[in-house]
Amino acid sequence: MRIAVIGTGYVGLVTGACLARLGHSVICSDRSAEKISVLASGGLPIWEQGLDELLSEASSLNRIRFTTNIKSAVQESDILIICVGTPFGPNGEADLTQLWSVVKQIARHSTEKKFLVVKSTVPVGTTDEIDQWLQSVSANRNIDVIHNPEFLRQGNAIRDFFHPDRIVAGCRTDKAKHVVSDLYKDLPSPILFCDSRSSELIKYASNAFLAMKISYINMIADFSEQTGARIDVVAEGIGMDSRIGEAFLRAGIGYGGSCFPKDIMAFRAMGQKWDCPMPLLDSTVSINRLRPRRLVNKLTDELGMLKGKRIALLGLAFKPMTDDLREAPSLQISRICLEQGAAVHAYDPHVSDYPVPEVVLHRSLYDAIDSSDAVVIVTELEQLRCLDWQIVSKKLRTRLIIDGRNMFAWEEMLHIADTFDMTYISVGR
Ligand code: UGA
Repeated sequence: MRIAVIGTGYVGLVTGACLARLGHSVICSDRSAEKISVLASGGLPIWEQGLDELLSEASSLNRIRFTTNIKSAVQESDILIICVGTPFGPNGEADLTQLWSVVKQIARHSTEKKFLVVKSTVPVGTTDEIDQWLQSVSANRNIDVIHNPEFLRQGNAIRDFFHPDRIVAGCRTDKAKHVVSDLYKDLPSPILFCDSRSSELIKYASNAFLAMKISYINMIADFSEQTGARIDVVAEGIGMDSRIGEAFLRAGIGYGGSCFPKDIMAFRAMGQKWDCPMPLLDSTVSINRLRPRRLVNKLTDELGMLKGKRIALLGLAFKPMTDDLREAPSLQISRICLEQGAAVHAYDPHVSDYPVPEVVLHRSLYDAIDSSDAVVIVTELEQLRCLDWQIVSKKLRTRLIIDGRNMFAWEEMLHIADTFDMTYISVGR
């Protein structure tokens, strides 16, 4: 199939590269000349595990091209997949400026039958509005609009593409259903065909449910702390109930990233628009907002005032295996520590540029820890599993480890802390 992927953010690039692997011919288009020139010369504007190899393979097989020329991308393709961002708008609602700009360009440039696949996360009713608008500007331009949400996790996106739990497609016509089936024909997953409003809502409701699970377990973690229960054991016990499931029950410093925070705000704004309050979302957000400050409270409980103290933050991105700092809890944690007069030193192998300039970035893990009063694990970097605790304890000024992600097993860590005379504090246990 001849496919144009419009928008080469992480969703667009991963989708383009994976569709090329499935044998399709893909043109990736983006308005950013800088991004396209990086991609055309074999580079990558973002880091995503396995993407580099997939793109090189697709390029060597001539299955992928990059262009800023949306007109040619549209005219040379039968299927147009929109993957542009729908960021925070002024009142939390999704900002659809980029999406509509692309739709208008598509309308201008397409003359033959096309299938327009909206992969961007859009408020319920948007796909219908696009469809109606396209018909209103020209009834004879035959564009069949489909909503097909993505469920890709950063850091795991390629695996998620090839092994999705489900593919959801909001289609109006049988032809559109056939196109979706052909697009993903080699993937071993069920396809749920539905109307586009349900498809749009499935995306928001899935992300909100996962975020709600995280806030729920964080609330229970706080209660465990007060009562002497252990949240990891509690989460295990809850998760063994197949009706609940074990995923997304890891307590810690809360969710971040480019998706959950934005989508939940947009979902709340949709609730207001449709006059349907969603109090569960309000609670999810307010629990999550308090997580970074709660973590800093653990520091001050142990160290007293932070003025003059040196804090080592390990992991800055919102989760491991990515360089993405959008809504990363590290931002708030480092700002609060700095406000309280601490010096903040940090290590993250994927992050070379940090928007809080007072934070000193180190390229070596142990340099970040050196002479610190506390180590704070903000992101569960795989590399931390091989920490040499003897070195850590020697380098620390005050031997305090705060594990914001509960990445280490409790008994094992108590033993290590005892051996090296360190204080180990985690979340909800
Ligand atoms: C999320 C969804 O998982 C994807 O299905 C969805 O496609 C994507 O958003 C999107 O809308 O594009 P992502 O934001 O990449 O993917 O990351 P997740 O792995 O879901 O983690 C989100 C946040 O929750 C991270 O900050 C993570 O540390 C946190 N988290 C996750 C927890 O605090 N506890 C958990 O148990 C799980």
